[in-house]
Amino acid sequence: MSKAPTKSATLRLDRLLANMGYGSRREIAGLAQAGRIVFDGQRLREADQRIAVTPDLSGRLWVDGEVLDPPPGLALLLHKPLGVTCSHREAGPIVYGLLPPRWRRREPAISTVGRLDKETSGLLLLTDDGALLHRIIAPKANVAKRYQVTLDRPLRGDEGAIFASGTLMLDGENRPLLPVALDVQDTTRAAITLTEGRYHQVRRMFAAVGNHVTALHRDRVGALDLPADLAPGSYRILSEPEIARVFA
Ligand code: URA
Repeated sequence: MSKAPTKSATLRLDRLLANMGYGSRREIAGLAQAGRIVFDGQRLREADQRIAVTPDLSGRLWVDGEVLDPPPGLALLLHKPLGVTCSHREAGPIVYGLLPPRWRRREPAISTVGRLDKETSGLLLLTDDGALLHRIIAPKANVAKRYQVTLDRPLRGDEGAIFASGTLMLDGENRPLLPVALDVQDTTRAAITLTEGRYHQVRRMFAAVGNHVTALHRDRVGALDLPADLAPGSYRILSEPEIARVFA
């Protein structure tokens, strides 16, 4: 079940804004009393007033002269740069550090949909909608993920057949990988499309055929492409039709 309110849910103003990282409920009450919260052109002075959490809320609710952040039910596409981790806790740069600081205080929290390794770049989805997250990562959803791979050594020629066989067993595992499609581009570059998401899967697959991945970049999830104009480290809020492309 998602913790995000449904589109027609109502929440107290202080609860809504506290959950969105604007401060404690007491601080929100102070903002309201000071006339710093405006809804549909009217100052909202009562922090216990209930607000319908609709997708258009950020155009209607203003805090301190600025439109409200996107309400819960948020889905983002981030161009993950190299060298950042998909962790909430790890020391060093993390993907959440690429989002506005207030968004890191939101409840429900924004989480990555699966993970990319620190040294993998490309398309990373994030959401605060637990139901959406599980719909995307559920094995039965069969969402395809495409990676552009650069290799240390030339391809031998048999990798495509081995990956497609559905019999490849990775070190330390007792279940073979589902078939994976390999599209060879030149001797050391290929695109690989998989539906599973096992730990370091692509790197371990090439290790299993005697090669080594030197660069890994995800450029597609389902039928959703990483936009060519989205710079590494930048993100974009996804629309409903874009989210639907993940399942297309
Ligand atoms: N496979 C890997 O080895 N690493 C990733 O980040 C994603 C898939």
